[in-house]
Amino acid sequence: MSPATPYGVDDHRSGVQAVLGSLSPAAIFIVATIKPTGHQAVRELGEDLAGLLRTVGFRSLDPGLSCVLGLGSEFWDRLFPGLPKPAGLHPFQEIRGAHYAPSTPGDLLIHIRANRHDLCFELAGLIMDRLRDAVASADEVHGFRYFDARDLLGFVDGTENPTGNLAYDSVLIGDEDPDYAGGSYVLVQKYVHDLATWNRLATEDQEKVIGRHKLSNVELDDDVKPPNAHNALTVIEEDGKELKILRDNMPFGNASRGEFGTYFIGYARTSGLLERMLTNMFIGDPPGNYDRILDFSTALTGSLYFVPSGAFLEDPPEPVSSGRLIIGDLKGVPQI
Ligand code: HEM
Repeated sequence: MSPATPYGVDDHRSGVQAVLGSLSPAAIFIVATIKPTGHQAVRELGEDLAGLLRTVGFRSLDPGLSCVLGLGSEFWDRLFPGLPKPAGLHPFQEIRGAHYAPSTPGDLLIHIRANRHDLCFELAGLIMDRLRDAVASADEVHGFRYFDARDLLGFVDGTENPTGNLAYDSVLIGDEDPDYAGGSYVLVQKYVHDLATWNRLATEDQEKVIGRHKLSNVELDDDVKPPNAHNALTVIEEDGKELKILRDNMPFGNASRGEFGTYFIGYARTSGLLERMLTNMFIGDPPGNYDRILDFSTALTGSLYFVPSGAFLEDPPEPVSSGRLIIGDLKGVPQI
């Protein structure tokens, strides 16, 4: 059994639903839509996912393999009709501001991380074998680590992620939604960069867009950091306390097509926090003071998911023949 954590038996740092898994050198992101008849295959995948992880992970001495499944809002209704929805689960709303954040289809998010790409690929293959007949469409992105955890804009990405107990508190649902405690919300967006235009900016100007020095990764002083810097608009405080999300962005691309991208992935305890950050970026705070990263980066996709705890996934509530649902035996759902 996983060691006890402040949130119960799920470890959250490795294996199934490892939202707090460490930033990895390799990742695969799959966003799939599921056919009307496909929900049973997804349910069975969730129940067997820990076994698939052992199947692949045990063949290597590398402990870093993990997988997170996220469930989209409409798909949740098909999987668990009648079951109350996690409080923050709803379809992602597009944002039209200074720039456009589209909302694109997604029933199921699969986020696989490992220290080696072969492990990610092997697990993705086994998962998709199980889902082949259930999936209507899928977008698959293979992310890679770029030097010292830089994005393809050339900046170190991930520095201000929360760690330790702050990470648990920032990312995992607590007693505000007790049926779903130990779960999380995750937002993904696939961005492509206009690197030719970005690279024409002087380094000092790029640093003002991001809010950090490029080489050293040191944060710009407040007196030189512009209000539209990325790290000015994404820092959100409430009652004097900064509200954090956990990001595991990955570069991806295709050199011969001239495609250079960042796959954004952010986990949070509330979906509202992710949406507030996006509003600040795309509309601006105040409106008009938008994130200049978007002058060089276009969001091609956007979707929001609920991440159930590993215990919920392994032993999901059963519909019963009367049409009523047995919500629980939610045994194992972490109680705080
Ligand atoms: C093109 C897409 C993006 C790129 C290339 C990017 C890159 C970066 C970089 C380089 C940093 C500074 C270092 C760090 O703390 O990680 C950063 C910080 C951050 N980003 Fe992004 N980001 C992107 C999209 C987003 C989105 C969509 C969100 C939120 C919905 C977001 C939220 C944050 C947050 C919260 C921070 C930390 C701010 C702080 O505490 O200083 N980013 N990002």
